Amino acid sequence: MCGIIGFSGATPALPLLLDGLRALEYRGYDSAGVALSGDGATFTVKSRGRIDTLEEKLKAADLPPALCGIGHTRWATHGEPSDLNSHPHTAGAVTLVHNGIIENYAALAHRLTLSGYKFHSETDTEVGAALIDFYYRLSGDPQNSLFAAADDIRGSFAFGVLFEDRPGEIYAIRRDSPLIAAHTEKGSFIASDVTAVIEHTSEYFRPREGIIVKISAGGVEFFDREGQKADCETERVDWSVSRAQRSGYAHFMLKEIFEEPEAIRKTVSPRLSGGLPDFGKDAPGLAELSRFRRIHIVGCGTAMHAGLMGKIFIEKFARIPVCVEIASEFRYRDPILEPHDLVILLSQSGETADTLAALRHAKSRGVATLAIVNVIGSSVAREADRVIYTLAGPEIAVASTKAYSVQCAILALFAVSAALSKKALPEPTARRICESLVNAVPDSIARLLAKSERICALARNYTDCEDLFFIGRGIDSALCTEGSLKLKEISYIHSEAYPAGELKHGTISLITDGVPVIALITETSLCEKVISAVREVRSRGARVLCFATREAARDHTIPCDDLFELDAPSGLPAAFCAATALQLFAYHAAALRGLDVDKPRNLAKSVTVE
Ligand code: G6P
Repeated sequence: MCGIIGFSGATPALPLLLDGLRALEYRGYDSAGVALSGDGATFTVKSRGRIDTLEEKLKAADLPPALCGIGHTRWATHGEPSDLNSHPHTAGAVTLVHNGIIENYAALAHRLTLSGYKFHSETDTEVGAALIDFYYRLSGDPQNSLFAAADDIRGSFAFGVLFEDRPGEIYAIRRDSPLIAAHTEKGSFIASDVTAVIEHTSEYFRPREGIIVKISAGGVEFFDREGQKADCETERVDWSVSRAQRSGYAHFMLKEIFEEPEAIRKTVSPRLSGGLPDFGKDAPGLAELSRFRRIHIVGCGTAMHAGLMGKIFIEKFARIPVCVEIASEFRYRDPILEPHDLVILLSQSGETADTLAALRHAKSRGVATLAIVNVIGSSVAREADRVIYTLAGPEIAVASTKAYSVQCAILALFAVSAALSKKALPEPTARRICESLVNAVPDSIARLLAKSERICALARNYTDCEDLFFIGRGIDSALCTEGSLKLKEISYIHSEAYPAGELKHGTISLITDGVPVIALITETSLCEKVISAVREVRSRGARVLCFATREAARDHTIPCDDLFELDAPSGLPAAFCAATALQLFAYHAAALRGLDVDKPRNLAKSVTVE
């Protein structure tokens, strides 16, 4: 999704803006641009394509040096990726960058046309620039004009704005889109997220909605509607710049997969007390879990898939019925929410627009909400009644990996906690599961990671295919949905995940000679059932790669073409290990196909628009 950056200080702005944009690349983008604020003039250069292309254009443009400017990476929504549609956009005295969507842009454009404005691009953002300029002409006051424009806009925005006659000043305002500000030794920044400024400071502000941020060389200020100075608490990142660097790995995705054992330990350990789950520090009152009669887990993409795992854990351990919902559907389909329901919002970024809207919908219906989020202080985390942070550290690759594993781990722990409060699980069993989450699970993943090259060798046999099917039963079926998504996202191989028993009810018609099928076997009790499905597809010509526990491979003859044995005890360790194995498979398949693994086409890390 679009990334914004702004700087005003005592050193040249351009290199800092370009560094900031590079740090935001992971969000996904198709064009980039910058505008520098000179004395009474603003100079803009923008371009379709990568930041390197923009840099070439900037060299040719040879702009005068400037100490203040804004920059943008655009992920196209309104209008194709093109030089013209790229940000920044200018109207009159206003030049701005925008993350979000102005839903009523057509009506606003019509109104502004009557006042003499002409539009050159296909974007909603250009209308935003004109709207702010319209009010700036009336009031001559940047803050008034931003508040007035915000009132007229339906939709989401984080705007970073330069006014031509106010060199050295950048104004920003947000609604439903992320924005941070920071003051450093070099000067002041605004940005879409802290990754863009972590090189300069670990302290930052996360302005709430309804206030204006003004940055200049002198610092960061916040103003409310009355023009009075507003407060904004300082926040601090607890990870260093090296966590957001590749540190010798070929891709962020590979690095993040390798961080899983540590991320799981770090996330689970502080939530154990005497060997049993204790969320008392994060989410007081959660101990009363027995009062919830039904749980809805809501998220998008990979987070929603972690929800499928959560459903299995919660229903199995605590016997509480769980519905897993895609956030974009949940918000519009008037879900049945009752007083004893709990809505769990799952999100790595905590800024996904659909998840945030689902949370607001649940709150408006008066049900209890719990966020499980990775980014501290993010919108979902702030707005939910309670929050449990996953402590995976920054996830930069667009395709989510370690965030999924820690979400699954927290959901397993939550399930045990709920089971204990409902007396649905004997304490020794609960203790064993918790022990497994901090020891056997991360240890098994670590052993698997040491065999990454073997998975790469296996992936080589499948990189030329166009379509691929994942099959499994029980928990393996849930794992397959995520394995399939991962493969699609980064390797562009079409794939589908099917519960192994369901395949014969339709999709088996697509199995012909050489069609690859990946079968998962981590559930001992369902092993024979999956083997039957493997036989069915093989007898129709499928080439089968099976990921199976050592135990399953020892006790059964698995009729597959390629076999990878998971060196993990069955149960949770095997399931978590299988998740990581499928992530590695997708990673290697994409890397072998020579693709841009960390920045897959069309995808964005943090989808802050609907
Ligand atoms: C985007 C990303 C996915 C991610 C999903 C939900 O679609 O490309 O990788 O799973 O958003 O993101 P969240 O930050 O809410 O977990």
